[in-house]
Amino acid sequence: MSTVRACSSAVAPVALIVVTIAAFAGAALPAAAELPRVEHSPSADGSLTILAVGDWGRRGEFNQSRVTAQKMGVDFVISTGDNFYDDGLTGVDDKAFEESFTGIYTAKSLQKPWYTVLGNHDYRGDALAQISPVLRRVDSRWICMKSFVVDAEIADFFFVDTTPFVLKYWTNPKNSTYDWRGVAPRETYITNLLKAHGVDLYLNGHDHCLEHISSTDSPLQYLTSGGGSKSWGGVYAPGGDKVEFFHDGQGFMSLRLTGTEASLAFHGVAGDVLHI
Ligand SMILES: *[C@@H]1O[C@H](CO)[C@@H](O)[C@H](O)[C@H]1NC(C)=O
Ligand SMILES: *[C@@H]1O[C@H](CO)[C@@H](O)[C@H](O)[C@H]1NC(C)=O
Repeated sequence: MSTVRACSSAVAPVALIVVTIAAFAGAALPAAAELPRVEHSPSADGSLTILAVGDWGRRGEFNQSRVTAQKMGVDFVISTGDNFYDDGLTGVDDKAFEESFTGIYTAKSLQKPWYTVLGNHDYRGDALAQISPVLRRVDSRWICMKSFVVDAEIADFFFVDTTPFVLKYWTNPKNSTYDWRGVAPRETYITNLLKAHGVDLYLNGHDHCLEHISSTDSPLQYLTSGGGSKSWGGVYAPGGDKVEFFHDGQGFMSLRLTGTEASLAFHGVAGDVLHI
């Protein structure tokens, strides 16, 4: 997985979402049929506009309240994980849910489903609380599961829970304990699977930056959107693939899909376009 972590020397990225655009690649990943599936219809014109943000939950601090607080109309939001710092939620009644999510993302444009995965920080708290339907009743936008598929007709989004892939989280959890209830370690490197099945885009958070990397041996594009609050602070460690863009700071990504085309943009704190 070294190809996808050009801006961090720390760990492999967690909280990963992959997109297979239907018109480009019809083959579904093998286990997809067993995952929970959510249907999401495209806009009336057949397109999808998506905002992706990660690594955000800091009670509005470090520009969290400003990032994404703009007027871009979207169909849904993807959260790439590390939703609540530092140690996830303590339970379904943890006030951090209100203080870092419901009360922060109040812009009209963000009143859409938030398809959300867990990051490593989320596993340091009560991981089952974040995926509990109780939170969906508190805020109906919150659709958080471990691994699932969003079928949006023109594209399939595979949300993959990658924190358990990082073996050092099992062997050396440092200061915190990880909540491994309901998960088992996995043994398969995922990058080869993505290439073998014609996945077009791989979105992740974890690294507190914005980044676009092109695979040098496949059409796969790696997209990091982890600038939702505190920015990561200066480590840049490119691997063998081509770094198209790197922004060591706050911001988010937007993605527009039609049946045949994908266009993306990285945005700074104020919504300004940094890279397309
Ligand atoms: C907030 O964003 C602005 C503009 O990018 C930046 O200058 C400032 O340092 C950020 N503040 C924090 C606390 O990260
Ligand atoms: C976390 O772990 C590191 C390395 O074991 C240690 O140096 C540090 O003091 C610990 N921090 C806390 C808050 O316990």
